[in-house]
Amino acid sequence: MFLAGIYCRYKCIDKNPEPKFFHFTDNFNTAFRWTTGQHATCWAHCVTGDWRKKPRSLSHLEAASLTLVGGTVWEALVVRAALRVGESILIHGGVGGVGHVAIQVAKAMGARVFTTVREANFEFARTLGADVVIDYEKEDYVDAIMRETGGHGVDVVFDTIGGNTLSRSPDTLAQLGRIVTIVDTSLPQNLVQAWGKNASYHFVFTRQNRGKLDELSALIERGQLRPHIGAVYSLADIPLAHALLETPNNGLRGKIAIAVEPSSHTESA
Ligand SMILES: NC(=O)c1ccc[n+]([C@@H]2O[C@H](COP(=O)([O-])OP(=O)(O)OC[C@H]3O[C@@H](n4cnc5c(N)ncnc54)[C@H](OP(=O)(O)O)[C@@H]3O)[C@@H](O)[C@H]2O)c1
Repeated sequence: MFLAGIYCRYKCIDKNPEPKFFHFTDNFNTAFRWTTGQHATCWAHCVTGDWRKKPRSLSHLEAASLTLVGGTVWEALVVRAALRVGESILIHGGVGGVGHVAIQVAKAMGARVFTTVREANFEFARTLGADVVIDYEKEDYVDAIMRETGGHGVDVVFDTIGGNTLSRSPDTLAQLGRIVTIVDTSLPQNLVQAWGKNASYHFVFTRQNRGKLDELSALIERGQLRPHIGAVYSLADIPLAHALLETPNNGLRGKIAIAVEPSSHTESA
């Protein structure tokens, strides 16, 4: 048995009478763990409860690449930050796996989006919907936010990079601003500036559920959200995928996908 973690898609390819939860030949998206190799007739088998039909407009790889990061973004922006129409948000790492989905969801929610990326990714971030792009290599993002907001600050900071963002975020915030982080950091952080902003912090470790997949699917169907796959590797080449992830300045945008099914190696995302 092979435990593949939480990014997956699966498709039943034969008329096995069990399990009973779905119709064979349908394609599904699941946000949870799955196993493969147990059933001769079904190359992947969902071992936990929540699944949903794949949106028609997405390829299998695109659908598989969205489940974890999409659920994370939904939890961060909708559930925790409660981002509202007309508010502003700073999304750190705007072309990363999480960040590129966060920009699109924040725009769909009616927010003004600021994001930190390298200059080489400015255009891509704008195509995702970013209103203001900040080159994190050349400019301090606190200065950039204060300049672009006339000293007002943003309503929400979404931290996907860690480091000292928890202590620096209050400097970019408007009054009653919210900071949502998905990165665990072992660095001690001084949050004293948060008092003056009446700031609130949210720490997210993604909890997936069917409802989030439904909401994300609605955005996909309206053309407001599409995951981007920056690279595709076969199961055998997972070490190469890890090597790419660990390479600084790797130029990667969006997600890396692993194509498990041999015939899907050439599937275009
Ligand atoms: N808590 C949860 O539930 C949860 C869920 C999903 C992910 N995560 C965590 O969230 C983090 C991000 O995940 P991911 O999948 O989005 O990773 P990713 O695809 O590697 O994206 C990270 C992005 O951050 C950018 N970046 C690096 N340093 C930066 C800086 N100083 N300022 C601005 N951008 C910077 C990188 O761009 P460059 O090309 O410029 O380096 C890259 O685009 C990871 O630590 C992951 O473990 C947590």
